[in-house]
Amino acid sequence: MRKTTLITGGAGYIGSHTALALINAGHKVLVLDNLCNSCRECIRRLEQLTLTRVDFIKGDIRDPVLLDDIFSRYDIEAVVHFASLKSVEESVRKPLDYYANNVAGTLDLCQAMARNNVFQLVFSSSATVYGEPSHTPIAEDVGTGKPVNPYGRTKLMIEELLTDLCDSDPRWSIGLLRYFNPIGAHESGMIGEDPRGRPNNLLPCLTQVAIGRIPELTVYGSDYPTVDGTCVRDYIHVVDLAIGHLKALQVLQHNNGIHFWNLGTGVGYSVLQIIHSFEDITGISIPYRFAPRRLGDIAKCWADPGKAGRELGWSAQRGLEQMITDTWRWQSCNPQGYQSSFKIPAPVAVK
Ligand code: NAD
Ligand code: UD1
Repeated sequence: MRKTTLITGGAGYIGSHTALALINAGHKVLVLDNLCNSCRECIRRLEQLTLTRVDFIKGDIRDPVLLDDIFSRYDIEAVVHFASLKSVEESVRKPLDYYANNVAGTLDLCQAMARNNVFQLVFSSSATVYGEPSHTPIAEDVGTGKPVNPYGRTKLMIEELLTDLCDSDPRWSIGLLRYFNPIGAHESGMIGEDPRGRPNNLLPCLTQVAIGRIPELTVYGSDYPTVDGTCVRDYIHVVDLAIGHLKALQVLQHNNGIHFWNLGTGVGYSVLQIIHSFEDITGISIPYRFAPRRLGDIAKCWADPGKAGRELGWSAQRGLEQMITDTWRWQSCNPQGYQSSFKIPAPVAVK
């Protein structure tokens, strides 16, 4: 009988791609999600893609009775923990919601794991824990910095909490995965990022301009000390990111303690480079205008992914062209996200 991997937040963007990667690699998964930023249609599509039933429970990580019930009914070996609120802008307006959901929710989850003798955990952290980097590329050994918003501070607090937990009890094995900028979608076009309301991140904004939901793209800042004055980021394909979780789970099985891994490509692109690549790949021109710098943005940020290469045997395989092609396939096949009835993908027109 295969043991189960519990995926919290598995109906969300990165969680659903990771669920797919785990199922394809032979894992038995159980998704726990309260659907506060996702929907059941995502689970239905995962079932279509994998031709299997995907165990799903609608519920909250802050519900200890539910967690104990889940741990008693399923033979859970490890938890991959995505469940979190993730809007930087909202976290500034509603910090208590972010500390309660993200930090207290992780506490509830870890307490339930300990009560039920489950000690393997992979946690979704973020490059935001580095704050303003003194140099690039960023390696794990530079240490953490000062995140500039409550969302980022929840990630840093959770990293510290999980480090203390590992120090206190040698049975724990915990992987903190620091994602750089996840974009892209599964190549089927059936699952992808489906932000509620007006998006804040670059790629969702850009594709919504391309399909006409937003009239023009705002480019925040043109005077950064970068190649063309716009900010540089390390964009990573969500499928590569998902595979990173699979590798982390494998390594955690035989290596107790706390582990930190950057998941990025090691290559940075500016906002203008992203816009022009999108235009070249899709043949769609993107109206944009410059606006002042966005509060909290840093000029450049890209990863040194060498530690994940050495310790996980992982490196990103998908380049920018595939990231953009797959993002656009998802968006054009699903103009209203998961509310759209799925259309068979047409080949992307290349100029
Ligand atoms: P997402 O919002 O698509 O997925 C998060 C999922 O968690 C959603 O389905 C939501 O309904 C669920 N959820 C939230 N609170 C919950 C709770 N209390 N109980 C149960 N379910 C709950 O976000 P994502 O982009 O897939 O991000 C996944 C994780 O990765 C998050 O922890 C996020 O902070 C982190 N992360 C994301 C990015 C990014 O750019 N997307 C970058 C760095 C880190
Ligand atoms: C942001 C968050 C970060 C979080 C990450 C994933 C901030 C300051 N940082 O990272 O904490 O972990 O999202 O959710 O919010 N841009 C535009 N126009 C747009 C949107 C973005 O020019 O409409 C620019 C931004 O100024 C930035 C780059 O595109 O330079 C990438 O932005 P974004 O996708 O929001 O990611 P980050 O800011 O890197």
